[in-house]
Amino acid sequence: APLLKTKIIGAKLLYKEETRSTNEDAKIAAAEGAPDGTVALTEFQGTGHGRLSRGWFCPKGKGILFSVLLRPQNILPQDAPKYTLLAAVAVVRACRARGLDVGIKWPNDVLAGGKKLVGILTEMSAEMERIHYIVIGTGINVNIEAAEFAPEIREKATSLSLLAGHPLDRRQLLADILQEMETLSLDVQAQGFAPVLDEWRRLSLTLGQEVRVIGVNETFTGRAVDIDADGALLVDTETGRRRVLAADVSIRPA
Ligand code: BTN
Repeated sequence: APLLKTKIIGAKLLYKEETRSTNEDAKIAAAEGAPDGTVALTEFQGTGHGRLSRGWFCPKGKGILFSVLLRPQNILPQDAPKYTLLAAVAVVRACRARGLDVGIKWPNDVLAGGKKLVGILTEMSAEMERIHYIVIGTGINVNIEAAEFAPEIREKATSLSLLAGHPLDRRQLLADILQEMETLSLDVQAQGFAPVLDEWRRLSLTLGQEVRVIGVNETFTGRAVDIDADGALLVDTETGRRRVLAADVSIRPA
């Protein structure tokens, strides 16, 4: 039986053994008219993109590196971040189904034991207040040994195989994640984002914690209390409640 049983997400698969970035590949495919649900996939990225102008590196053949092109109907640009939260929920569902104890750090890092396993970068093309398309790029550290991480991230990063104590089947894991993404996006079409946001809240490692918010222009601390309907993080500070749309958040040790 085929691994992948989805109808939309992954129905068209663009595989390259090596590429610069699957987000770039998905955006080029989108401009050329690729359909909703197209997935760009690779074994190695030369210049993987991370959030906040950072990079993303993964040793060849050791991770899952893919980008999903979505063309949602009648969705506003401010809805895009919620698709990122959806992707994080999909990844966590697939990991927890394997007994792996992972959670989400706002907005969409998947962590275990305080170390990062998964990064997600969403990019969109919008015009006249309408979204043309969204590209959700996901990088998962799957079968990486501790010594394979660069020294500067060794303290901050981990892999699913280190967590599980054995290597994982990357094809089956990817198939399961694409399935969860498809299920969740069909749910969103039927009932909106509220159930996804609720599930995100339950899987969150950030809510209820004292956090440091490192924004582009300023840094502040407070208690992360909730996400709002747009997926923004609400932080209670000494001077009142702040709404955070794009920043780095570190969970402060108690
Ligand atoms: C982050 O945590 O900063 C986000 C990292 C996102 C990395 C993935 S790997 C597949 C896709 N292609 C890219 O260039 N980036 C994303």
